[in-house]
Amino acid sequence: MRILLLLIALLSGPALSQGIDSNHAQNNFMLHCQGCHKADGSGLPGSVPSMKNFVSKFLSVPEGREFLIRVPGSANSSLSDKDLAELLNWMLMELSTEGLPDDFTLYTEVEVRQERARVLVDVAAFRATLVAQMKLP
Ligand code: HEC
Repeated sequence: MRILLLLIALLSGPALSQGIDSNHAQNNFMLHCQGCHKADGSGLPGSVPSMKNFVSKFLSVPEGREFLIRVPGSANSSLSDKDLAELLNWMLMELSTEGLPDDFTLYTEVEVRQERARVLVDVAAFRATLVAQMKLP
């Protein structure tokens, strides 16, 4: 059984993590995001929502994928478009594998550049409409 799990990890790992330097992404998360989101993505109850096995659910609702780029913590960070794309990919695969759609495609630098420029005005209201559309257990 263990060997089977190891094989699965070896086979799926490289395909999923294509183009992502996990150490680089994790360092950026520590420097730019962890202060609010915590190292494990659990956030601060009452003020910063938990990312753990939750943030991937945004990918299944319309405009949710873009929201993860446009949310102020992402969009207003000093990270380059390329580094932010890498970080978001790492975040989803590291902190929120549960709920990650099977057809998830990696964020790209170009996508981040385009969506980041679309400023979100009322973040809380926008987020609430997305969460309301999620199929929560
Ligand atoms: C100053 C605190 C703070 C920092 C720093 C921060 N965030 Fe956030 N983040 C929040 C809060 C609060 C929310 C909830 C939405 C909102 O009000 O902006 C959030 C929401 C998010 C979400 C959407 C998840 C959800 O459930 O709403 C993502 C994705 C995200 N942040 C990514 C990042 C990334 C990536 C970084 C680092 C580059 C970062 N954040 C830095 C406070 C922060």
